Amino acid sequence: QSFKTKICCIGAGYVGGPTCAVIASKCADIKVTIVDINQARIDAWNSQDIPIYEPGLEEIVFAQRGKNLFFSTDVDAAILEADLIFVSVNTPTKKTGMGAGFAADLAYIEAATRRIALVAKSHKIVIEKSTVPCRTAESMRKILDANSRSDVTFDILSNPEFLAEGTAIKDLQNPDRVLIGSMQTPAGLKAQKALASVYARWVPQNRIVTTRLWSSELTKLASNALLAQRISSINALSAICEATGADVDEVSYACGLDSRIGPKFLKASVGFGGSCFQKDILNLVYLSQSLHLPEVADYWNQVVLMNEYQKRRFAESVVKTLFNTITNKNICILGFAFKKDTGDTRESAAIAMVKYFLKENANIRIYDPKVPESQMRYDLTVEDNVDVDIYNKRVKVCDTAYSAADGVDAIVVLTEWDEFKTLDYKRIYEKMTKPAFIFDGRLILPTAELKKIGYQTITIGKGDVE
Ligand code: NAI
Repeated sequence: QSFKTKICCIGAGYVGGPTCAVIASKCADIKVTIVDINQARIDAWNSQDIPIYEPGLEEIVFAQRGKNLFFSTDVDAAILEADLIFVSVNTPTKKTGMGAGFAADLAYIEAATRRIALVAKSHKIVIEKSTVPCRTAESMRKILDANSRSDVTFDILSNPEFLAEGTAIKDLQNPDRVLIGSMQTPAGLKAQKALASVYARWVPQNRIVTTRLWSSELTKLASNALLAQRISSINALSAICEATGADVDEVSYACGLDSRIGPKFLKASVGFGGSCFQKDILNLVYLSQSLHLPEVADYWNQVVLMNEYQKRRFAESVVKTLFNTITNKNICILGFAFKKDTGDTRESAAIAMVKYFLKENANIRIYDPKVPESQMRYDLTVEDNVDVDIYNKRVKVCDTAYSAADGVDAIVVLTEWDEFKTLDYKRIYEKMTKPAFIFDGRLILPTAELKKIGYQTITIGKGDVE
């Protein structure tokens, strides 16, 4: 079949995969090829066991794959034939060198851009999909311009992705807005129109917002900073609730009824995780510092510091409640993903929590419905430096919540998976060491019922600690 338009997406991750799968499903006449240098990941996308869990994703991939949706490691071939190229590679926080701990590592973006510059033989519209610091497009443009020839020209667009993991497909099919930033030149505006016409197949015109390039780049950082700020704000209030006997659920509900505030993202918790919030705020902090705006940098940095504080506070409350020692005690961790309905564990609060408990010499039993043991092992030992011997000795990953909770001293809920709301807590209680403690880091448990069974319940932001 010959396709009129061809799209290439560089980076087959949590963003590239779902985004382009949805484009393929909405545009039968567009050929979409998602490429990656990671062979194992591409093999998985081409198998029956796709590498990312996202409700509804598998169905779309299976329906489109081989028709107008392809996964490949042949990056050059896909660049060559594409009219539009999404760059959807990872942009992690730099670990060493200038800006370490704050700035985004743009090495992958640059490598992908150089590849496009090198390989292209015709005009390409290059689209930043990855989250990048404000004005990154300028660097990309310089690389592309320096390599353009008379018949090979490039336009660059910023089209940040706002999907949330766990609801990615829903968010992509029905986005609050699609943002496309471009240079305000005739060529830039023409490219903007070309990309807008792809989204216009399923997104209402009034939700396709076009802006200048820098506004679009900054909007992505700003959105995540504003969302994370709400979480840190309610979490800061949760500490006051615990100290005063107020109930954070009541406070956030009543605050959220004010239409100027609104109810979303006002749920107290053990802290936010995920690959984006912390990284993007730190990025904004670094940007502010680079622009000599230290007060602005400090302001946003406090959102991250509050999140660290919340995780530490919760971990400490577990130790304090268990009579100031958890040495050799058995602690059941329910949930390891950073939120429900995803298997993604990047920056998950559970990682920090388990590490903390291991330092206190506890034995840990973990259950998560979507995170495999290999991932937990990787996160704790490779990424977070827990000694492999300690991991082997002290951590056990279980297949069910019941086996994880079997005979433990305390249960700690860290991810808001629905199934944790309705476990047979009576059955679990009977086998636990008494007093049986249960810590709710997500405010999802039926506390009154648990108390009736005999549990000592400790919930973030609830003053009635027993
Ligand atoms: P990811 O790590 O899951 O996927 C990135 C992929 O790019 C990897 O598979 C990697 O092998 C590949 N890659 C890196 N360099 C490459 C190159 N030169 N050529 C070909 N492939 C290459 O990352 P994820 O989560 O998809 O994020 C991508 C970007 O989207 C990041 O900038 C992130 O901040 C942003 N973003 C992420 C969201 C999320 O929910 N995960 C939401 C919105 C934006």
